[in-house]
Amino acid sequence: TKMQHGLLQKPMTPFVRMIHSSGARLNKVAVVGAAGGIGQPLSLLLKLNPRVTALALYDVAPITPGVAADLSHLPTNSKVTGHTGDGALADALKDCDVVVIPAGVPRKPGMTRDDLFNINASIVASTIAQCAISCPNAHYLIISNPVNSTVPIASEVLKAKKTYDARKLYGVTSLDLCRAETFIGEFMNKDQRQVKVPVVGGHAGKTILPLLSHTGGAFKQEDKDALTHRIMFGGDEVVQAKQGGGSATLSMAYAGARFTESVLAAIQDGKVVEEYAFVESKLGYAPFFSSKVSLDKGGVKEVHDVGALDDFEKKLFEEMKPELNAQVEKGIAFGKKYA
Ligand code: NAD
Ligand code: LMR
Repeated sequence: TKMQHGLLQKPMTPFVRMIHSSGARLNKVAVVGAAGGIGQPLSLLLKLNPRVTALALYDVAPITPGVAADLSHLPTNSKVTGHTGDGALADALKDCDVVVIPAGVPRKPGMTRDDLFNINASIVASTIAQCAISCPNAHYLIISNPVNSTVPIASEVLKAKKTYDARKLYGVTSLDLCRAETFIGEFMNKDQRQVKVPVVGGHAGKTILPLLSHTGGAFKQEDKDALTHRIMFGGDEVVQAKQGGGSATLSMAYAGARFTESVLAAIQDGKVVEEYAFVESKLGYAPFFSSKVSLDKGGVKEVHDVGALDDFEKKLFEEMKPELNAQVEKGIAFGKKYA
């Protein structure tokens, strides 16, 4: 189409190039929390992804059918539907291949992601409980914070419903990867699209551990400290700048769309795609842990270990473990009680 052509002339990122490559097979994607700060731009990016043939938007907000009507005027190959109100979540989720979940409240200055637990834990648990009924074979991509706890909650709810497949449950940490690529690229004066930085652990403060030693760059200790700190607390930078108006939405929409594209590419093309995500982990650091994963048709095919760490990273890694494990355990305990 004309629009795809226009974007192709000036590819801004590998992701934009990728989403215009192909995609003939059917794929239904649902966004739960679709009317929110992340949900709306994420839905727009998914509407532009030719791999998506049906896009179901669900939110408790009454504007949701309007968001769907708005996007439905775009000439791309997906059909968009809007769903809100009683029974609407089941309709939205029916026959879904991928469910992306940014439903829940965001932070305000002075809050940690864990401060969102009381509200968002039940939102994620109830959403996933309906997923287990309406689309038990789908891939679930959890954006709602605190990711370190909401993903374990989802696993317990799915276990209780006897539909848990660890290979298809992901905490989305791709915004941490995006920030690392951007900040390190700027620092090294390199094209940010060429920069690769592993980010492992979890998705909150010190549990977010970028591995600068794997970038090939030589950093002075003070630069390592500053860059690592900025990546760990990149979310706070946005929360503060928005002055009580919420947290990262546009960058998260991009990061979420990029990760969704990877999952869809793995499902559709049957190729192995490498990504980073917070998944059930047998590496022995925590029951859920973010590291490099290989994805294929069935979801997570392999979870990769973190590789060699330098002394600076080793220290931060050890410091992170108790905090990450506590947040995972808190999620597991809630999930067991809920289920
Ligand atoms: P927002 O308040 O703008 O939007 C959230 C939406 O969720 C709202 O439209 C709301 O109506 C909807 N919602 C609430 N309860 C729901 C339910 N039971 N079912 C369906 N929809 C429901 O918030 P936002 O800025 O879009 O952030 C959403 C979540 O994403 C927050 O928890 C935030 O902390 C998290 N987040 C995660 C990352 C990450 O890297 N994983 C990045 C940014 C934000
Ligand atoms: C982020 O990393 O931007 C999100 O987790 C939102 C937040 O609360 O910081």
